[in-house]
Amino acid sequence: MQKKLIASSIALALTCAAGGALAAAPDWSKVPAKKITVFYPGVSPMEWITKGTEHGGAKGLRKGESCAACHDEEVADMGKKMVTGQKIEPHVIKGKAAAIPVSVQAANDGSNLYMRFSWKQPAGGGEKMDADNAVKLAFMLDDNKIERANLSGCWETCHQDVRTMPDVKDDKKTKYVKDGNVAGGKFYDLLQWTSKANKGRDGYIADKRVMEGGKALVEAKGEKKGDEWVVTFTRKLAGGGEGDIAMASGKTYNFGFAIHDDHTHGRFHHVSLGYTLGIDTKADITAGK
Ligand code: HEC
Repeated sequence: MQKKLIASSIALALTCAAGGALAAAPDWSKVPAKKITVFYPGVSPMEWITKGTEHGGAKGLRKGESCAACHDEEVADMGKKMVTGQKIEPHVIKGKAAAIPVSVQAANDGSNLYMRFSWKQPAGGGEKMDADNAVKLAFMLDDNKIERANLSGCWETCHQDVRTMPDVKDDKKTKYVKDGNVAGGKFYDLLQWTSKANKGRDGYIADKRVMEGGKALVEAKGEKKGDEWVVTFTRKLAGGGEGDIAMASGKTYNFGFAIHDDHTHGRFHHVSLGYTLGIDTKADITAGK
């Protein structure tokens, strides 16, 4: 009896020392949800977006208009143009969804950020590029250091010369940020959940994509209930590892996310435009207490 008590109090002390690994997730039914539709982007790297010969928004973007300001209401229609090959996508996958509406919720408890993503599984049946993982979900955070990320979310990592882009033979060249530099703070913090392992990875994107080194991720898990996916992340606000941003109450960060639906990889994902995530402060998505 005595022994058991001591053992459990040691266990409790240990979990507390581990930085709130046992932190209770919020009651999600009480947390407001923001609907964000991710869409099929086709081959629309920043080079295409900013060059302006084909992209009608290049000028507006240069003047400081965000992608969402122009496109937020119409992303499903945009996805349709690319998924059908009508525009900038040479490799059409039959049956692929043009867009996926996702409920995004966020909360914090002073030490952890909690994120929850839920969506209905669209029809699929395309080729299994990633045989292991039916679904992967990743989000990125920028601490207001990356030029234009306030307008574009995580699109600053999307370039025409990275793996799986048309005509690129180098399957090692990953996403990157122009002049990206971890020491200088110019990077996206990246958290990814994969369905097979049902676990998260904590990395970053600077001059290249690195899928490790972060110490902020406490837990990522997901499940499919009926035809609905629910994926949750618990992340230490303070960060502390390589490529972790330190988040604080009252501050706002640039945010974007992507879903690799139906066994896809590389560019064949559904992506969001850029949004802001505020910790206890009003933003596109607010992580309140
Ligand atoms: C000033 C408004 C504006 C801004 C800002 C803007 N766009 Fe556009 N975008 C347009 C217009 C206009 C088109 C052309 C639509 C058409 O007529 O076919 C377009 C087309 C596109 C397309 C091709 C699909 C389609 O519907 O034609 C993609 C993808 C796209 N934009 C992504 C982005 C992204 C990502 C950003 C931010 C990095 C962005 N845009 C910023 C106005 C804008």
